[in-house]
Amino acid sequence: MCGIVAYFGKKAAQPILLEGLKRLEYRGYDSAGVALMAGNTFEQHKTSGRIANLEEVLPAVNAAQTIGIGHTRWATHGEPNTTNSHPHTDATGKITLVHNGIIENYATLKKWLLKEGCTFQSETDTEVLANLIGYFYTQEQDKDGTACEHFERAVQKALNEIYGTYGLAIMCADCPDMMIGVKKGSPLILGVGENEFVLASDASAIVEHTTRAVYMSDGEMVIIHADGFTTKTITNKEVSKELKDIEFSLDQIELEGFEHYMQKEIAEQPEALHTCLNGRIDLKNGRVILGGIQNLLRDLTRTKRIIMTACGTAWHAALVGEFLFEQLARIPAEVEYASEFRYRNPIVEEGTVVIAISQSGETADTLAAIEQAKERGATVLGVVNAVGSTIARLTDAGVYLRVGPEIGVASTKAFTAQVSVLAMLAVELGRRRHLSADAAQTILTELAKIPQKVESILAQQEHIKAIAQANIHKDNWLFLGRGFNYPVALEGALKLKEISYIHAEGLPAAEMKHGPIALITDDMPAVFVATQCSQYEKVIGNIEEVRARGGKTIVVATEGDDHIAPYADYLITVPDTIEQLQPLLTVVPLQMLAYHAAVLRGHDVDKPRNLAKSVTVE
Ligand code: F6R
Repeated sequence: MCGIVAYFGKKAAQPILLEGLKRLEYRGYDSAGVALMAGNTFEQHKTSGRIANLEEVLPAVNAAQTIGIGHTRWATHGEPNTTNSHPHTDATGKITLVHNGIIENYATLKKWLLKEGCTFQSETDTEVLANLIGYFYTQEQDKDGTACEHFERAVQKALNEIYGTYGLAIMCADCPDMMIGVKKGSPLILGVGENEFVLASDASAIVEHTTRAVYMSDGEMVIIHADGFTTKTITNKEVSKELKDIEFSLDQIELEGFEHYMQKEIAEQPEALHTCLNGRIDLKNGRVILGGIQNLLRDLTRTKRIIMTACGTAWHAALVGEFLFEQLARIPAEVEYASEFRYRNPIVEEGTVVIAISQSGETADTLAAIEQAKERGATVLGVVNAVGSTIARLTDAGVYLRVGPEIGVASTKAFTAQVSVLAMLAVELGRRRHLSADAAQTILTELAKIPQKVESILAQQEHIKAIAQANIHKDNWLFLGRGFNYPVALEGALKLKEISYIHAEGLPAAEMKHGPIALITDDMPAVFVATQCSQYEKVIGNIEEVRARGGKTIVVATEGDDHIAPYADYLITVPDTIEQLQPLLTVVPLQMLAYHAAVLRGHDVDKPRNLAKSVTVE
């Protein structure tokens, strides 16, 4: 949600910022801009719309401009026009900055700054922050010290007045050899190269320049000078930070011949899942080795309750997790929307384990839910993809998905990996409680076969595309499943609506008759997940109810099910597996269906309207 990138080095900054913004564009694409240090002033270029629009208005590269900041926006305060786009500069013209996050008390501060004589151009919260820093900078100038010391103190003073979240890159016209980065609640990473620094919202904008990085923590600032960098808190306490390796390569964030990242990420699920499972399954003993949580396994085994908290697709994975923990480990489990959990005064009894699930590791609501859980004494585990992300660092322990960066806004490989990790965890907890080695071996043997089975589903690409084509003119769809496939129905509906803008609703199939059945007509495709499972006959009953009312069905069934054909207007099959692991297979054709529907409707699959990857605002 908004991407920031800044360059400080010896090379021309403009092309590096532009390339960085293209890598970060999935975080927001309403408007974009850059500011380059030009002597004791800034040269600024901004525009509404995509980075491609910015590229068109940028002048020829000036090799002497080697310091600059850039921003790609997902609008929160103020419509996405050129004036509201970042960078924002204070009224004195001395301070300019890019911001990812929200300044919650901006209205109060703006009122006060207006009284103090400040003027504003935009409707944004960010311009208020620029002016607040500018205000303190002017005051500091009457005091002892250099311009750089004044700048640093002004930033600290301003941030101590702010409520909200921020990842910031800030420049001061009087300090042309200095830049400040600050983080609270929004991600910020400092890439450290040979005589150069790249500050960015995520590693994808850094990895082309260096693989060594400092992951900033909340309340920390980095001050970059030509001869190096220092880190401290915004309350001016020195902090020493470790240089870490960025754990992915440039190849992983390239399209590599695919048209869209979503298409690539669906296709790479077999390999991604293989990597996720690799080395973690001990088939011989029916055990699972999850290094990151080894020390907490005793607590986990004895817990009386697991609460999973997440948003969106990760919440759907958590729902599968709930069924897995209950069935395999016999531990009471529940799933909470992070945005609800945090405000509900939740009851967290002693010994409760909270598992936060997040691809990006930066989702603001999930972060807040973790803080809430920790305050109430819970042990918090993270199931996270992005290595070094805020959630990964905030939790007591965790398991990484290991599926590489997910760039498509619609989450795909993260879902299957999240379910895989939860399945492994449920088996291991089960084994430590009552699950027999035989039962565990059966589940883990099946789990190990999943990557290869996903491969065979991907081979049905043309068939699934044809089904999307046949139904592309339908504006309302239903997705229905029961048991372990109920979360898959929710996920199938979410995938379709977020990228194709077709209205879709996901439901437990039996709930249909309590209301939604009124919607059924031959103009509303009903997608049923009807694989061989304990509720198979019941799902068939639900299909009959739809067909009796003239509804058209798209059915995902088990390969070799001879019984199912009469119930399906369109049939997609997936290989057989045990019921608990079926979501790992049944979700794949639904991802493909959504992808093709969006492409056929002519939408930009990787940049769906109004959305952004990584929701770092509430
Ligand atoms: C949907 C999607 C979102 C995310 C949600 C949580 O395709 O991607 O619903 O799942 O915003 O994001 P993470 O997992 O990064 O916390």
